[in-house]
Amino acid sequence: MSEVVLIGAGFVADLYMRSFALYPEVKIRAVWDRDPARLEAFCTHWSVPAASSLEAALTEGSAGCIVLNLTNPASHFDVSTAALTAGHHVYSEKPLGLSMAQAQALHDQAADAGLLLSSAPCSVLGEAAQTLIKAVRDEVCGIPRLVYAELDDGFIPQARYGDWLSDSGAPWPARDEFEVGCTLEHAGYYLTWLIAAFGPVARVVAASAAVIPDKEGNPETPDVSVATLFFASGMVARLTCSIVAPHDHQIRVIGDAGVIELKQAWDNDAKPRFRKRVTIRRRLMELPVGRKLKIAGPTHPKVKRWGAAAMNFALGPMEMLEAIEAGRPCRLSSDFALHLNEVTLAIQNAGDTSGAQDMQTRCDAMEPMPWAR
Ligand SMILES: NC(=O)c1ccc[n+]([C@@H]2O[C@H](COP(=O)([O-])OP(=O)(O)OC[C@H]3O[C@@H](n4cnc5c(N)ncnc54)[C@H](O)[C@@H]3O)[C@@H](O)[C@H]2O)c1
Repeated sequence: MSEVVLIGAGFVADLYMRSFALYPEVKIRAVWDRDPARLEAFCTHWSVPAASSLEAALTEGSAGCIVLNLTNPASHFDVSTAALTAGHHVYSEKPLGLSMAQAQALHDQAADAGLLLSSAPCSVLGEAAQTLIKAVRDEVCGIPRLVYAELDDGFIPQARYGDWLSDSGAPWPARDEFEVGCTLEHAGYYLTWLIAAFGPVARVVAASAAVIPDKEGNPETPDVSVATLFFASGMVARLTCSIVAPHDHQIRVIGDAGVIELKQAWDNDAKPRFRKRVTIRRRLMELPVGRKLKIAGPTHPKVKRWGAAAMNFALGPMEMLEAIEAGRPCRLSSDFALHLNEVTLAIQNAGDTSGAQDMQTRCDAMEPMPWAR
């Protein structure tokens, strides 16, 4: 029996419970949330045991079990520190830390204690990501030269997010999401895939901005970011995150022989396609209909779509449990989590000056054509 202690029983915790339903061998040993009403609603809904405090939850779990830190980002550091101090492996929701100092301290504490420390997202272990990464590895598109990846969520401040409730009734935490920002919240969904496919990032040239200042939370948190990632392997990728531009979760790996593309980031079951590059009557183009790429044989249990996602949130914790049992390295290592944190913060905090060049020339705004006024 594999044991898990869950800290933070909010919106995402319900998605984890839906995913853990696929793994009857996992026992939820204890749940803690500092909001008593939330704790009760969650534990009643899922019939899982509520702890009386964080300390009680941590002593409830047997030594070396996994603590899932599903609290808000501002609590990640304190809760993960407490769980590691209590001798438990930690799987933290993203980001691992709000600063590199926090993330590094957690990384070092886990290393000193011989404990595993992983961070979400874990969709990189899912079928869609692994199929795409395998296709890159197999050079289905020839030598890959460039990646374009988008994590645009639509104009979220105008969405009816007040109506978004989780299974056990937790409201979508709009204020916290806006305050933390879409880059810290979402860049990892493709950064993990890119780092898994191309290795570590050597340099980030990025810009970020708050273009909708009147939303809830901190008006200065960027709601758009664009990054060019230079990988140590020589690969180059562009990654865009926003809660402003129309929904677009496309990733395209452009190679010498064509393009591998996938339209959904948050669906483990989405199928990447390969569009071969051809010349038809002197016109160079990628074929309009791509060939579906699939992995032969079974992959992993999948959850049904709920809201915007069809992701198995348990893939990360299960990877940890299996690594512990087999005594093998965990794919979601603490080095991976730390690097992910560094790249994400570099993009989020880029502002408008990172690698910027001030323009010396100016011009007037252009008059529209007379027929276009
Ligand atoms: N909302 C989503 O769709 C979603 C999806 C994937 C990942 N995440 C991530 O999951 C994490 C949680 O997000 P959420 O949407 O569930 O937020 P939420 O606000 O709905 O839930 C967080 C819960 O943690 C509790 N909490 C905060 N600090 C605590 C502490 N120190 N001790 C005990 N309990 C504490 C809060 O009371 C709250 O119930 C974030 O890191 C977020 O990035 C969210």
